Amino acid sequence: MRLVILGGPGSGKSTQARQLCRHLGIVEISSGNILRRAIASQTDLGHKAQPYVEKGELVPDEILIEFMRQRLLQPDTAKGWVLEGYPRTAFQAEELDFLLEDLNQQLDWAIYLTVPESVMMTRSVARSQNQAQDSTPSTKSRLDDHPEIVPRRIELFYERTVPILEYYGYRQKLLTINGNQPSEQVQQNILHKLELDD
Ligand code: AP5
Repeated sequence: MRLVILGGPGSGKSTQARQLCRHLGIVEISSGNILRRAIASQTDLGHKAQPYVEKGELVPDEILIEFMRQRLLQPDTAKGWVLEGYPRTAFQAEELDFLLEDLNQQLDWAIYLTVPESVMMTRSVARSQNQAQDSTPSTKSRLDDHPEIVPRRIELFYERTVPILEYYGYRQKLLTINGNQPSEQVQQNILHKLELDD
């Protein structure tokens, strides 16, 4: 199974991707997590991405596209994958299709988690507040969850990512799921649409 998860900030992409990968025994590839780890370890990718991520801007397409090309060539992707947070622009979506064609693979579905803008805002800001109170090193605070930055991420979601919905809809690959319900229910609905529920 090869899946893409689309949605705005705080829509639950990461939460759902993790559960789906556990259920299906496939690998989760999260562009946001990859970038945050690269920034924390100060790799070349991290240096390039940091100024964009900190401001809530999108990292330039060419950086992400090349990185994802390399990532999808790794052997752990053979059984399938869930791409979370990628693609995020029309150009990334087209390039992903070209790459899959090269690899003789096909995307099964693009899952779109819809939530109202107010929920995107409250979940993202709540996460930064929870992390600020938690002193364990594993819950590194996200600067891009700052209340002044989240609106920019939401704006970019509508400007740059929402147009991709039409791209996948036209190809009959789009599954739209209401993300504004308890996460277990969201997961059940995804599995049901994928015809993987019991
Ligand atoms: P990224 O990490 O992908 O940020 P995002 O899209 O804004 O998404 P989030 O991680 O904030 O939310 P999510 O939808 O994964 O929700 P989650 O499950 O965590 O990207 C960060 C940055 O990296 C970007 O701004 C950009 O700079 C750069 N970047 C990344 N990919 C890029 C790309 N392809 N191109 C260019 N730049 C890129 O849940 C959020 C919170 O809500 C959690 O606290 C969770 O517990 C809670 N929650 C989840 N589901 C529910 C539910 N059903 N009910 C109640 N609470 C819930």
